[in-house]
This record gives sequence, structure tokens and C-alpha cells, in this order.
Amino acid sequence: MRKTLAFLLGILLAGATSSAVAVTAPELPPFPGITPLEYGSKAIFPGLLWLDDKGAPINAHGGGILEHKGVYYWYGEHKLFGKGGNSAQVGIHVYSSTDLCSWHDEGVALQVKDFPKNFVESLNDPMVKGCVIERPKVMYNKKTNKFVMFFHHEFLGASYGTAAPGFAVSDTPTGPFLYLGTMRPNAQKYPLNMLESTRKEFAEQLSRLKIKAQNKEFANVPKDPVVNVHTDDKTPGNTLSRPGEKSIPDAVGMMQTRKELQEWGKNKAKGREKDDLGFWGRDFEVGQMVRDMNLFVDDDGTAYHIYASEENRVTQIAKLTPDYLGYTGEYIRAFGGMREGPAPFKSGGRYYMFNSACTGWEPNPTRVFSAPSMMGPWKDLGECFKGRPLMSKISYDSQPTYVLPVPGKSGCFIFMGDRWRPKFPGDGRYIWLPVKWQKDGKPYLEWNSHWDFSIFNKPGYCDPNVKK
Ligand code: GAL
Repeated sequence: MRKTLAFLLGILLAGATSSAVAVTAPELPPFPGITPLEYGSKAIFPGLLWLDDKGAPINAHGGGILEHKGVYYWYGEHKLFGKGGNSAQVGIHVYSSTDLCSWHDEGVALQVKDFPKNFVESLNDPMVKGCVIERPKVMYNKKTNKFVMFFHHEFLGASYGTAAPGFAVSDTPTGPFLYLGTMRPNAQKYPLNMLESTRKEFAEQLSRLKIKAQNKEFANVPKDPVVNVHTDDKTPGNTLSRPGEKSIPDAVGMMQTRKELQEWGKNKAKGREKDDLGFWGRDFEVGQMVRDMNLFVDDDGTAYHIYASEENRVTQIAKLTPDYLGYTGEYIRAFGGMREGPAPFKSGGRYYMFNSACTGWEPNPTRVFSAPSMMGPWKDLGECFKGRPLMSKISYDSQPTYVLPVPGKSGCFIFMGDRWRPKFPGDGRYIWLPVKWQKDGKPYLEWNSHWDFSIFNKPGYCDPNVKK
């Protein structure tokens, strides 16, 4: 407890620097009897305590990696050790590396805010400490020269009901990132892969419902969701504007507020769920849910948002605008079956995605899906951990978060997973494994207690469909 307080004090005292915000005090106590993976090691030890250049355990859970100008940036959730540590008490931590083994602490790229004096104000502030910020991912946009961050955002006390992506942007990879707002995607848009007959049926059903409810249910749904959330943001470095477009404050005005999403929640409880529209239909007016999520930038620069939607029942994939700050309205309902932790990658012109089942912080079997295009059709290739049966069924105690292409080795990839510790969130571990390939081209995973990058020269670690 004293350590936690000291740590919190450290955070409060840590001021904004020209780069990301520095975290001064190492958070976790030393673990007796555990040999940690020291800074400077040239091997990966999945599950071992992994120390950064300051000697503190790397704190970047549910993370993802961005390569920029030969440097790798690892962004992830900064978790605390004890109670409440799974909510955002600090923000998104970023580390940098050139060899993917030794990580330099770059501080906090996106910081949550202290409670304002007025409690009501704190409830209305989407970025106040105690909100939930999960699975952050960052893309670099070549056209705008901006770094764009998406994350799964839950407003304070929302119990996973916000289910919306938060957006942030920065001029540098280490931040500080400027929070833009939070918004459900693709409101009033039909998925590309929905049959014309289904669309028609749905539209008719919706208009019948609207008449039946005499518009009561829709009274609170934002018709024109222009509400200002954060034009007063004083984050250092807030000089950004969207090239050729409105300034950032105007763009922020397009975001949805906590109140709007709450109103929607109340309305849905009033009975829309009972109607036969399903969760997709329920959310048609306000936008589709986003929980576990990832981003994917294709070779041609087109970016996609991949997320667990419809109360986690359907994985959706949405195409983003060229500046990566909005949705084009084109999206698919890729596959059903309560999947989470989507981790997409591309090999030999094909698209793949590892993902998990839906059991909260508990591990479950990872499966792999494949498609000829990001917009589908996606095919389930089945479970993909091999080895000891019981351990494979729980993915060796891990859940996918990202897949990283191996530098300079096309067809070779690293699976990045989280071994969650819900009681001691800050002690969650990282399970990085080299992806293996069957002769028939199915990627799979196998436990490996320690490995280095020479493993990718061995047979079986490269997609057989990729020509050398
Ligand atoms: C997991 C999910 C995590 C977090 C957690 C909360 O299934 O992958 O990102 O949302 O549930 O229980």
C-alpha cells in the first residue's frame, strides 16, 4: 500500500516534459526468488519479468508496436500493482527499442487526468483517472505526418457499457498525444457484406418501430452529434490541425459525450433489445460497439479498425479515412462466435488474424482466421496452439494483443500476448512467441521458454507461401 502511495505521489510529481511524460518511481517491488530478464538481453523469455533500461518492469499491457525510422515503439496500458490497477490511473506507456529485446522507457504517451475538485465535472471528463483505456494501438500517417492512436475507451464507472474507441494524435511517436474524443463508429451505416434483402427488411422494421414508439425511444439519440468535449485541452504540444480540414477542436466537436451514450443505454433498456433487431440493429442509430480492438495498415497505406462489436458477438472490420482520423462508412461484420483480442497480420498477400474466446481475464484457446482481403470473406482455420493439450487450451496462459512482422524476414512473425494477473494487474506478463507455419500454410503457435531472432532461420518459422 505504502509503495502504491509512493508511486502515485511519483506520478503526481512527474511533470510534462517536451517528450512523453516521465514516470519517476519504479512501480513494482522486487519479486523475491524471481530472476528478471535484465535490460540488454538478446533473447526473449516469454512470461519472465522483463526489465526496461531503468530497471523497472516494462508496463505496457494489451500493447502494440509501431516501427518508425528504424526504431520500434511499444505502446501499452500502464497498470498498477493493486486494486483498481486495471483501470487507467496513469495512461498509455511507451518504450522504444532498436532490437526488440532492450526497451528504453519513453514515459507516458497519453496521460489520464487528476480528479477535478468538482465530482460531477470528473464524471463528465472522459479522460479522468479511473476510466478504462485498453489495447492502445498507434499508426503513422505518411500523408499528414501524424501519429494516430486508437484505444478501447470506457468512461469512469461505465462497466464496459461505453464500448467506444478513443482517439488521440501526436506529432512525435512518444507524444504527448492529444486526446481528441470518443465515438462509436458507423452510425446509420449498413455493413458491406449485408444482403440487400436483409437491409430492406431491417429498414422497414426500423421505420415501423420508430412509428410505434412515436419517436420516444429516439428522443435522446443525438441526431446531429455535435457536442464539444475538449476544446479547452491544454496538453503541451497541442498545436495540431488536420491538414486541409477543420482544426482539431472542430473535429473534436464530432465526438459523443458520456451523457449521450448513457442516454442510449437507458433507451435500449426500455425495450429495443426485445425487438428482433439484434445488437447490430440496436446500435444502428448510435454507432457500433467497440471493445477489444486492433489496427492494421495495409501496404497501400489504407488503414482498418478491427474490433469486437455487438456485445462481443461479432468481430467487425471498418475502413478508415486517408488521414486515419475517421471512418469511411465501409465496414463488414467479419465473423461471429464471441471473439476478442484480435491480432491481424498479412503474409504472402493473405490476411490472418489470431484472436481469443471471450472469458474476461481468464485464458482460453486462441484461434486463427484467414481472408483474401481485409474486407473478407474470413475463414476460421481453427485452434492454433500446439503442444501440451491442457496448456494449449489456455494458449499457455495468454491472450493475443498484436502480431509483429520480423524485421527483414518476410513471412516471419512474432505473436505478442498478455498473461493477465487481474489481482495484481501490474504484474501481467508478456508472452512473445515466434509464429510457426504448417506445410499447408496454416500459422500456429508453440511454447518456447526462450528464443532469439536466429530462430527465424530455422525451417518451419516462415510462411511456406512466401518466396524467399
Ligand atoms: C478481456 C479483454 C481485456 C479486458 C478484460 C476485462 O477479455 O481482452 O482487454 O477488456 O476482458 O474483463
